[in-house]
Amino acid sequence: MTFAQATAVYPGSFDPLHLGHVDIVRRAVGVFPRVIVAVLANTEKQALLPFPERVRIIQETFADTPQVEVTSFSGLLVDFMRQSGARVMIRGMRAVSDFEYEFQLALMNRRLWPLVETVFLTPNEEFIYLSSRVIKEIWALGGDVSSFVSEPVLRALLALRRGRTVTPAE
Ligand code: PNS
Repeated sequence: MTFAQATAVYPGSFDPLHLGHVDIVRRAVGVFPRVIVAVLANTEKQALLPFPERVRIIQETFADTPQVEVTSFSGLLVDFMRQSGARVMIRGMRAVSDFEYEFQLALMNRRLWPLVETVFLTPNEEFIYLSSRVIKEIWALGGDVSSFVSEPVLRALLALRRGRTVTPAE
């Protein structure tokens, strides 16, 4: 199977999804005919955006891109990939600081399922410094994150600040 026929899975917590993630998805769509954005469910981390609302917000972000499917998964990622008929995993690589963790993830996943291939994509340099952790911190301290996230994510964050959950495209 070549890349031109492969389904790629882009896994993550995406709490929240930011424009660096969006850039990686758009790049993946340029290489693979089908991209599944797989959102990790029941993460132990203190989530900013509640689940499954986070999935719906990401679906809304990619509503204009039919090659992109957004879904959640729990358990081992390689099991989800096997069930989805996908052997290619996409991960974003921003800087050397990402390397150690990403290398461990790629090798461990391959150990768990030898058929998996991890493909690293690099975001546009304007997004290199973006991370969900930093966005969460800026947001928690009352800062403006509007230039770092998609419209649906921003709507959800603003609704959270007003103390309520969002409804689609409110
Ligand atoms: O964006 P993140 O939070 O760095 O993504 C991490 C993710 C979701 C890819 C990773 O935590 C994961 O794959 N979790 C599922 C459980 C699993 O398969 N663990 C073994 C990985 S070696």
